[in-house]
Amino acid sequence: MTRAVRIDQHGGPEELKIVDVQVGDPGPGEVRIRHHAIGLNFIDIYQRSGLYPLTMPLHLGMEGAGVIEAVGEGVTHLRVGDRAAYASQPPGSYCEVRVMPAKCVCVLPEGISFETGAAMMLKGLTAQYLLKKTLPVEGLQAGDHVLFHAAAGGVGLIACQWAKALGLQLIGTAGSDAKCALALANGAAHAINYSREDFAARVKEITGGRGVKVVYDSVGKDTWDKSLDCLRPFGLMASFGNASGPVAPFAPGSLGNKGSLYVTRQTLFTHIATRESTQAMADDLFKVVLSGEVKIHIEQRFKLEEVQAAHRALEARQTTGCTILTL
Ligand SMILES: NC(=O)c1ccc[n+]([C@@H]2O[C@H](COP(=O)([O-])OP(=O)(O)OC[C@H]3O[C@@H](n4cnc5c(N)ncnc54)[C@H](OP(=O)(O)O)[C@@H]3O)[C@@H](O)[C@H]2O)c1
Repeated sequence: MTRAVRIDQHGGPEELKIVDVQVGDPGPGEVRIRHHAIGLNFIDIYQRSGLYPLTMPLHLGMEGAGVIEAVGEGVTHLRVGDRAAYASQPPGSYCEVRVMPAKCVCVLPEGISFETGAAMMLKGLTAQYLLKKTLPVEGLQAGDHVLFHAAAGGVGLIACQWAKALGLQLIGTAGSDAKCALALANGAAHAINYSREDFAARVKEITGGRGVKVVYDSVGKDTWDKSLDCLRPFGLMASFGNASGPVAPFAPGSLGNKGSLYVTRQTLFTHIATRESTQAMADDLFKVVLSGEVKIHIEQRFKLEEVQAAHRALEARQTTGCTILTL
């Protein structure tokens, strides 16, 4: 048996219930992992609220770290006793122990703690594919400006540091002066408090009127229009989230008028669709974390049974960096 967090219908944090569930043995291609820590992500809120509708009842959670307890047939990259971490579908990481597909589970290097592993896999692999694979047609060169919204959040603080390591000048936005200071302390070249400043005007000012080559936008509804105005000709609008709500339908013709812009909507799960791509991206993430170029800031810890409070804090923009659930 394990304690797990379940919802029986979409709704607010009050729908999150702790239940006891039976855990079996792994089938072919699966492992059983005993968690030491669990990562909290904004996607958990979309899945809870119903913005991303899923079949009920639903066990939430996409990220965790722990020890492999049992290995199913055909799994060759993990052994019983291995320390491991993952970002993965299907949801279900908010629990002590689970059976899950092994494909996205990676051996966690000795130098990385379980808590860090649980906090960084989904957010760090996302920063990896954004900065390394979601690129404008002209590519990104050292010294280039990029705009990254919600820069003091979980994905954001990792992206600030990684962008700096790549020589990029990341312009971060955040909802308060304290969050802006945090982004700057973590490698952002500039920070804009978009709750009181016109971020498009500031981006033009910072870039001498040229605009940025790429905008990484996870805020969605509230930032979409102005983000397009921050791009230089042939720039890339990389949408990857909807913290303020989904982006409204738009007319493709407007992209021409604003400078023949490109638009993409990315999701991590396309990037980690295979064992090989997951491991290659994870190796890249492990490297920057082990070298100290990227520090994983766990700014909030909640017990598993405090999961409702954790969701309320993340949703109310009260968190910075990463948040984990502890057991
Ligand atoms: N597509 C993918 O592959 C992928 C993967 C991982 C994450 N994501 C997305 O990336 C974003 C960051 O994820 P995360 O888990 O690291 O969360 P997070 O950044 O720690 O939290 C979300 C942040 O969004 C900002 N925000 C702006 N408007 C908001 C609103 N109306 N309500 C709530 N928050 C608002 C807040 O920062 P400020 O107060 O500074 O505005 C808030 O702290 C999320 O949108 C998530 O869905 C996408």
